[in-house]
Amino acid sequence: MTHAEAKARHARLVEEIRGHDHAYYVEARPSISDQAYDKLYHELLDLEKEFPDLVTPDSPSQRVGGEPLTAFKPVHHLSPMMSLDNTYSQEEVRNFVTRVQKLVPGETLEWMVEPKVDGVAINLRYEKGVFTCGATRGDGTTGDDVTANLKTIRSLPGKLKATGKKIPDVVEIRGEVYLPKAAFLKLNAERVAAGDEPFANPRNSAAGSLKQLDPRLVAKRPLDVIVYGLGTFQGAEPPLEHDEVLAWLKSVGFKSPQKTWKCRSADELLAAINELDQLRHKFLYETDGAVIKLNSFALREKIGFTSKAPRWAIAYKYAAEQAETKLKAITIQVGRTGALTPVAELEPVFLAGSTIARATLHNEDELRRKDIRVGDTVTIEKAGEVIPAVVGVVLTKRTGKEVPFEFPKHCPECGSKVARTEGNGTGEGVVWRCLNATCPAQVRGRIEHWCARGAMDIEGGGEVLASQLVKNALVHDVADLYSLTLEQLTNLERMGEKSAQNFLDGIAASKTRDLWRLLFGLGILHVGAGVAKALGKRFATLDDLFSASETQLTEVEDIGEVIAHSLVQWHQEPKNRELIERLRKAGLNFNSSLYKPAAALGPFAGKTFVLTGTLPTLKREEAAAKIEALGGKVSGSVSKKTDYVVAGDDAGSKLEKAQKLGVKVIDEAELLKMCDE
Ligand code: IVH
Repeated sequence: MTHAEAKARHARLVEEIRGHDHAYYVEARPSISDQAYDKLYHELLDLEKEFPDLVTPDSPSQRVGGEPLTAFKPVHHLSPMMSLDNTYSQEEVRNFVTRVQKLVPGETLEWMVEPKVDGVAINLRYEKGVFTCGATRGDGTTGDDVTANLKTIRSLPGKLKATGKKIPDVVEIRGEVYLPKAAFLKLNAERVAAGDEPFANPRNSAAGSLKQLDPRLVAKRPLDVIVYGLGTFQGAEPPLEHDEVLAWLKSVGFKSPQKTWKCRSADELLAAINELDQLRHKFLYETDGAVIKLNSFALREKIGFTSKAPRWAIAYKYAAEQAETKLKAITIQVGRTGALTPVAELEPVFLAGSTIARATLHNEDELRRKDIRVGDTVTIEKAGEVIPAVVGVVLTKRTGKEVPFEFPKHCPECGSKVARTEGNGTGEGVVWRCLNATCPAQVRGRIEHWCARGAMDIEGGGEVLASQLVKNALVHDVADLYSLTLEQLTNLERMGEKSAQNFLDGIAASKTRDLWRLLFGLGILHVGAGVAKALGKRFATLDDLFSASETQLTEVEDIGEVIAHSLVQWHQEPKNRELIERLRKAGLNFNSSLYKPAAALGPFAGKTFVLTGTLPTLKREEAAAKIEALGGKVSGSVSKKTDYVVAGDDAGSKLEKAQKLGVKVIDEAELLKMCDE
């Protein structure tokens, strides 16, 4: 193929893929089968491999990947990002309308109402139609550059669609990044399965995801974006009204609010707000309010701003649904990792569509802070998809008979002493743990986790059976499952021969499961399914994995120090080593089908380079491309993890740091030699 032919084909492929992305991610109306899409996408990748100069920043191939950053660059917004004043009552909405009308007497006011998406505000800059920079709100003037993370959002156009109208030279588009409710629930379930603390709400999970420095981790979170406004708009005819803005945003390829209302009076506004309240529960994203905006830009101009918010707009916040009930008791739940969680046992109460009899109290610190006592009347809250929580005590209803809760010093399940373990930088607070690894609650949890669908996938091994097996002392750890007999099982209460045989068949089938499932199933702290897969890619066998040092483990993509430490610590326990040997004897598969030998990853696999100073012949991007093409990583800063610093002229502090840390320093000639070798 000539270069000209490749270029033409590339342009057509990009167009076609963009069209399919828009249909799938924006309109939720797929226009092609997954296979056919993959074929197009791979053709694009192949073409770009052969003709690297065709790769543009807005190519669909540039969505995922990108090197981890050491910090976000600050970005100055071209127009400031304001916030909104909030109201919580219908009365305040009426007052707002009156207030605005007074500022523009005699004018007919037309309002727009749209959902207030509960996510993270974002500013998207497009230059000549191409997405060039995306930033968080920050202080309203300057935010963090999260462009690489935003590029992983498939519904975000890399290039604005042509509409026949002139595209602005520079435009800032304002919107909200969010994690859909279903993805939030799934992510939390995964975090809990890996022994990590769940996110409190979808908003936090979106903010936490956007703040990740490694775009590859962000790509694994199905973030999405809805846009609802403009900042700077230069070099084309700007819209004159807000509904025109929404229509334009839609026409150039964005997801905009799925339902909006145009209103001409306070009564109409309140009706719209109520209607949205009914509808919002069915939305795929969390909606915590309604935003009311004046439609006409000319009138907005006349009305102006306060120091932090426009005077022509307001947010009506829906109250989180709350109820009062009696706290009958506090019980302690012991999890698979030994963590003791206080649980509120409540007088059942109906709240936001379901009856609630239990709610988490998180941990001891939380209990103390809220001074929750047994017998108290408490307020419980359920905001959207969030698990019900006790928000506080109704102090006016205290009688003096309430009893403060003594956090147990011994495990309620096995009587062993408990120890307070500090948080370790993974979002987990201070927790009490039962340190007895043979505690029945922990064993039960470990068996259940091992059998779970995402792990070894053994049907029937749920809570009930796991509990029976432990109670009857048939199983003390997961290896014991492999010596269970039909007779032992049928002797259990309510266990027929057929279910017993099915369970045994499931156990037998689990022997051939892939290594990552086994690893995940072991329930090692912080080793979720994603981490287990990442390990499976880099290690051929379980033995290879456990002979790696902590440092070697941190060199694996997606594995940080906390995880590496947890793995090594787990394996240092003699009991755990013994468990592995018994699993080996039982005939379990210890090999990974995901394993890719380092050679396939390139000779520089696992090696991190830092470039500094001016190199004699190569531009920085060229040097980086060479290193990456051979499987190496290029990082922006020098640390203990750096393998080589490539230094040119005027190399400054990075060179000094490399020398201080004893990192190997090479020049361009040496780098080129290594590349040739
Ligand atoms: S308009 C000057 N519209 O709510 C107008 N904001 O509480 C600025 N938000 O910072 C925002 N949905 O992050 C607007 N449909 C919507 C919105 C929305 C969510 C967020 C946004 C803003 C915050 C203000």
